[in-house]
Amino acid sequence: MKNKALFLEIKKAAGSKVNFVIPVGKPVDFFLRPIATDKNNLNKNDIHLLSEWRNKFVRSFLTEFRANDERTASWLTEHVAKNDQKIMFMIDTLDNIPIGHVGLGFINWETGYVEADAIVRGASARKGLMREALRLLLTWAETSLGLDNAWVRVRSDNPAVVFYQNTGFIEKNRIPLSKKTEGDSLIWFEDPNAEKDAPALIYMKYQLNDSPIP
Ligand SMILES: CC(C)(COP(=O)(O)OP(=O)(O)OC[C@H]1O[C@@H](n2cnc3c(N)ncnc32)[C@H](O)[C@@H]1OP(=O)(O)O)[C@@H](O)C(=O)NCCC(=O)NCCS
Repeated sequence: MKNKALFLEIKKAAGSKVNFVIPVGKPVDFFLRPIATDKNNLNKNDIHLLSEWRNKFVRSFLTEFRANDERTASWLTEHVAKNDQKIMFMIDTLDNIPIGHVGLGFINWETGYVEADAIVRGASARKGLMREALRLLLTWAETSLGLDNAWVRVRSDNPAVVFYQNTGFIEKNRIPLSKKTEGDSLIWFEDPNAEKDAPALIYMKYQLNDSPIP
């Protein structure tokens, strides 16, 4: 059963006194905390880090632009808050220091389709943390939200392809990309007629949860 009501409740409560977290590590050394998107609950430090890390890894994503705190805050309140297909979690240390973020996006509440979205390590952390955080998030999406068909889309020129393979994703399709400029953004879009040496968008399916339990 899909549990959109739980998803919406967690998003609404993010940043308020009601705290929902997903613990990471054995023993627990990090936790995933929903990023607030309601304008009354915004977290300035989160906004600043989101902007800084977006700029640090500008070429990792399909839309390239220069982020700043104001733009990020309005993206959170105007786009993410109103989007019932997207949620983002900060990865915090036990001392509440954010080191990166993971998210779910492009959710289809009818079919159970979900994408790993906004996966970024901004600060140093133990090896394997990002893989563990993403696997936990996808397991939570399956067991608590009923989203059991997880994918990721990643640019072929991003070394994160290897990270996703190591996390349990398997390549299923690859579509060439072309780029265009819109305002101050560079946008990569799927284009079967793209130039031969252009990067591609790789579609990878998460298959770890499909493995039979030994
Ligand atoms: C992708 C990203 C989150 C991975 O973080 P990380 O801290 O390296 O992840 P982990 O330590 O959990 O690595 C898990 C596995 O992936 C492998 N891996 C990660 N990055 C790799 C790279 N650039 N090349 C080869 N392997 C890589 C690690 O070696 C590890 O495998 P191993 O334990 O078998 O050696 C990080 O590199 C990042 O923030 N990149 C920039 C943002 C980005 O591109 N996000 C993806 C957008 S689609």
